Amino acid sequence: MDVIYLTKSGVWYSFSAMMKEEIAKAKAEALAKIAEADSVKKLEEARVAILGKKGAFTKVQQGMRDVPPAEKPTVGALLHEARGAVDAALEARLLQLQVMEDEKRVAGIDLTLPAATLPMGGLHPISLVREEAVRILRRMGFSLADGPEIEDEWHCFDALNTPEDHPARNEKDTFYFDSGKLLRTQTSTVQARVMESQAPPVRIICPGSAFRRDAIDATHLSAFNQIEGLYVDREVSVGDLKGTLEYFLKALFGDETAVRFRPHFFPFTEPSFEIDVQLRAAGQAPRWIEIAGCGMVNPAVFENIDSKTGKNLYSGCTGFAFGIGLERLAMIRWGIRDIRLLIENDVRFLAQFH
Ligand code: DAH
Repeated sequence: MDVIYLTKSGVWYSFSAMMKEEIAKAKAEALAKIAEADSVKKLEEARVAILGKKGAFTKVQQGMRDVPPAEKPTVGALLHEARGAVDAALEARLLQLQVMEDEKRVAGIDLTLPAATLPMGGLHPISLVREEAVRILRRMGFSLADGPEIEDEWHCFDALNTPEDHPARNEKDTFYFDSGKLLRTQTSTVQARVMESQAPPVRIICPGSAFRRDAIDATHLSAFNQIEGLYVDREVSVGDLKGTLEYFLKALFGDETAVRFRPHFFPFTEPSFEIDVQLRAAGQAPRWIEIAGCGMVNPAVFENIDSKTGKNLYSGCTGFAFGIGLERLAMIRWGIRDIRLLIENDVRFLAQFH
């Protein structure tokens, strides 16, 4: 129809009139379409049909090209007003539809109900048993000491009277660094460090990690935790050692706990013992498991310390020492049959401890 109008006389006036009509029609149709859209998705489809590249309103806008210059201001203003109305209608309807859809989404949900509680974290069983063990021992008069996990051979072996050819010093059993340092195989290292730096009497405990090139099985890990203890004074006896450790184990596990001291060998104690406690795990017959090594400090250790410091503080002293496996304590405390559960970090397992 553009063509027909353009070829007639008075064509410009007629064309403008037609444009005005077209604008009014496009605007009315657009507003109707917008009102009809009953979802955000349909409104977007309507927007494309109206204002998209091939949209109905876009086509009318393109007609502005052919409006004679004199008419452009009036037709342009009209078009501008219509476009403004369409944009405003789109915006208003979008807001309305979004609110409606949001309301539909939360319909039936009681927003005043308390929220579901988030699962709370808790302490690992090793931490729990360590804290309990430390609390009991501190109450008995032991204080905390500390030492490095990366050690030298002196503190791990030589000071503790462990000869060069002892199997524990073997590369198959100990993690060595190229520098000659090693990952401590026992927290007994702290005994040597404490005695080097302080005079007797000594009453210390040291919870910490130790490392061995052990094959991992139901009762062994290659990185594990111990509590070392050392009591040095004058006239300390095996009775003190036994009484202290029995009291400790009963305070931790209950008065009924059966404890067994077995003669053993450690280079740094003489005599030496291993301590067994019965593990009672569900579905298993009770069995003795070794939870600690202990003994009366070997006078050779005192001599080593004294000759290292040149101070002669420890000659004539007596004492006892012990090293308790923390994983083993946790196993007995909670009837855990496999030590590996303690390092798997399965929350179904860990959630049982708080
Ligand atoms: N260090 C020993 C171990 O890891 C345990 C031990 C035995 C510690 C006797 C001691 C001790 O202090 O006197 O197997």
